[in-house]
Amino acid sequence: MCGIVGYVGKEKAKTRIIDGLKRLEYRGYDSAGIALATGEGIEVRKRVGGIEKLEEIITDAGFDGEMGIGHTRWATHGAPSDINAHPHLNEKGDIAVVHNGIIENYLELREWLADEKNITFRSETDSEVIAHLIGACYEGDIYEAVRKATKKMRGAYAICVMAAAEPDKLIAVRKDAPLVVGCGDGCNFVASDIPALLPYTKEVYLLENNETVVLTPDDVCIYDDGGNRVTRDVFHVTWDVDAAEKEGYEHFMLKEIHEQPKGLWETLTRRLDENGDIKLDGISMTGEDIRNFDKIYIVACGTAYHAGLVGKYIIEKYAGITVEVDIASEFRYRYPLVDERTLFIAISQSGETTDTLEALREAKRKGARVLSVVNVVGSSVARESDDVFYTWAGPEIAVASTKAYTTQLMCMYLLGLYMGKQTGVLEEKKYREIIEELKTIPDMLTEILEKENDIKGIARRFYRREKVFFIGRGTDSAVSYEGSLKLKEISYINSFAIAAGELKHGTIALVEPGVLFIAMCTQDRLYEKMVSNVQEIIARSGEIFAVAKEGGEEIKKHADNTFYIPRCSDDVAPILSVVPLQLFAYYVSVMRGNDADKPRNLAKSVTVE
Ligand code: F6R
Repeated sequence: MCGIVGYVGKEKAKTRIIDGLKRLEYRGYDSAGIALATGEGIEVRKRVGGIEKLEEIITDAGFDGEMGIGHTRWATHGAPSDINAHPHLNEKGDIAVVHNGIIENYLELREWLADEKNITFRSETDSEVIAHLIGACYEGDIYEAVRKATKKMRGAYAICVMAAAEPDKLIAVRKDAPLVVGCGDGCNFVASDIPALLPYTKEVYLLENNETVVLTPDDVCIYDDGGNRVTRDVFHVTWDVDAAEKEGYEHFMLKEIHEQPKGLWETLTRRLDENGDIKLDGISMTGEDIRNFDKIYIVACGTAYHAGLVGKYIIEKYAGITVEVDIASEFRYRYPLVDERTLFIAISQSGETTDTLEALREAKRKGARVLSVVNVVGSSVARESDDVFYTWAGPEIAVASTKAYTTQLMCMYLLGLYMGKQTGVLEEKKYREIIEELKTIPDMLTEILEKENDIKGIARRFYRREKVFFIGRGTDSAVSYEGSLKLKEISYINSFAIAAGELKHGTIALVEPGVLFIAMCTQDRLYEKMVSNVQEIIARSGEIFAVAKEGGEEIKKHADNTFYIPRCSDDVAPILSVVPLQLFAYYVSVMRGNDADKPRNLAKSVTVE
């Protein structure tokens, strides 16, 4: 949450920083600001609203410089406002700071700065404390001042700092919040995420926790917590700038929905050898390790958690190992039975989600082996895991996750199949059949995308509904949770998912005219039961939009609308059946006049608890 960008070089900083911020807006978009070293000191402009609002107040050519820092905010302490927006200045106005994260002891520090240093605070943020603290420690060397100040700070932060008296030196620090350094020609950058750097450089340094970096136009020096110089290999980014642009689509979300066949193909084929067997290259977990696990925890948040729910079905069925799926923020605060015979699987698109990362650390402390399913290479979750199973979705910019989810599902199948082979629970014939079927998924998904207009029509019919329920059985119930989350987060409709068999135990009381039920009916073995559940809803005047497999004619007789996915086995259906739900959520959001890429109150990478 919050995006930060810093630039130091010989060119104009303003456009480079604004350009970078636009590529980080998915991290937060309630206010934005920029500070530039103008030659006469530091000048700050900041404003509530998106980057376009900030752009309106920085048009004058005189407002520029060769060094600067920028920020796009997702509010934690203090409402979105001009004053609470970053950058923040120290009392004298000669040091500017942008911050992503939370300073846990900010009240204590604020009190100390007010009492001992007579500081008057302007904003309600925890971040302003950092600027004053660094100001209080400053004796002519901004690197030293930052080092002293960070020793007093507790919490999670990525900060970027500049001082008017040192106009060619940027300092950045990373502690439990992401930060990357971009190496340009005669210039250097720092940013919360790689897309911000892509138009200017593909050569980056991935900073480790507790590292401080000093950037000048020609040099990048990284220091560890003890102040020792660290050498780091340059990481070459392989995606190009188009991957982080809309390429003619109205929204990133729609583009990313359409990128799913490609992401799934990449994720699958990178794990298949020339004989069509699953290979776990780069993963040190052996067959013996797998046979020794007596329990697997899959732990994640939001959409990634929903991928874990499908993973449970698949791994238990194929590998015969008990799997528990947990929400990361809950796992951390209960007493999970974890030991050396536990495999802990973390699923995370960003690899920076604090709850997931902390749950992983907890499991590791208790002796579990950690395997993560991650999209962002080099992210914290990836680095702290014993093994990483990458999804090859490419950068996901839209806040609502789509292609990361389906590629996470693909990883769940591959893991389940691999483990099933090792434990001997899965027969060779079945193993081969499923791999062959997985190869057909990208084409089947393309067929669904070709029927996008049908979903648009269904969205037009229902977009004004205010109450929507998603129901399903088996893996369809897991997909229902994901469909419901997708709809509520971008349309703001009150939507709710429940296992269809559970309806009669209470929730059916809510059925009345005008309530829409989205009934997932893709599981052949549970199809008739779903048809009965649908009839129970119709008998109480609820409306039905059903998703079924081609050939499921019965449901069409009852539902108001039915969307068919291609015929496939029950096991792989989730990877296909979620797609009409993603498109439905997208079109409903657009029809209700929302910005599907930037839903209110949300941000992409959730680095707060
Ligand atoms: C919803 C969504 C979130 C994320 C969740 C975990 O569309 O994107 O629910 O899935 O915040 O994020 P990652 O996967 O980055 O750990």
